[in-house]
Amino acid sequence: MLAHASPWYVHALQRTTANPAEPLSVPARMEWTTRPGSGPGAEILGQDLRRKRLLELGCGPGHNAAHLATRYGAQVTGVDLVGLQVRRARSHYGRLNGLTFVAGHALHYLQASDEQFDAVYSVFGAIGLVAPELLLPAIAQHLRSGRTLAFSVPHPQRGGLRPATDDRPRRDYVTLPDRTRLPLARWDFDADRWEKHLDRSGLWLTSAQEFHDARHGGRWPTTLLITARKV
Ligand SMILES: C[S@@+](CC[C@H](N)C(=O)[O-])C[C@H]1O[C@@H](n2cnc3c(N)ncnc32)[C@H](O)[C@@H]1O
Repeated sequence: MLAHASPWYVHALQRTTANPAEPLSVPARMEWTTRPGSGPGAEILGQDLRRKRLLELGCGPGHNAAHLATRYGAQVTGVDLVGLQVRRARSHYGRLNGLTFVAGHALHYLQASDEQFDAVYSVFGAIGLVAPELLLPAIAQHLRSGRTLAFSVPHPQRGGLRPATDDRPRRDYVTLPDRTRLPLARWDFDADRWEKHLDRSGLWLTSAQEFHDARHGGRWPTTLLITARKV
């Protein structure tokens, strides 16, 4: 059965087996990169996040959503494809105010909702894992003019790879906690190609930053962090 499950389901299952689903203390900062403690924090989502409505696409166990709700008083909705991840997020942080975790595909969630958000974000989450020509316009519909989209993705040159030379996804892998690798499709764009897709969706790129991580050899960047605004 597992051979046919989404790699993200197997990923969540292994994580759940390794780590107890118990209340956790809220992380002290927001992490966008592979190296905790490096890179910007929540400020790239907006200067004053109090009572702001935020949407995370691919929230996993909810650490960043919990940080934003608790430290800033934001109203955060975290969506994840895998119900088991949502269950983990609720057991870690479900006691806190301002947090809602929903199981579902990011695109389906956006298509079914008419809510407007002050910012939408993804940290190695759904953006890059869902066709950008579908996902980015769907995100743009939930942002008013001037509002922010921010997302981090594995850097397209990680480990010496080359960025995609066309708009198609390519084969990548999820490395599971037990070091098994399961294949998936990833839209592995460089900043220019993201800018083109953002532009077509009514979003303009405001920054593109890359980050290195000494634990991954340090030579190649590991994280690409993009911010954009609704036109
Ligand atoms: C690498 S994890 C990152 C989790 C979290 N953002 C973090 O930084 O800890 C990727 C997450 O995206 C979720 N995901 C993958 N495809 C998705 C989709 N189409 N819609 C919503 N979530 C998705 C997976 O289930 C997984 O929890």
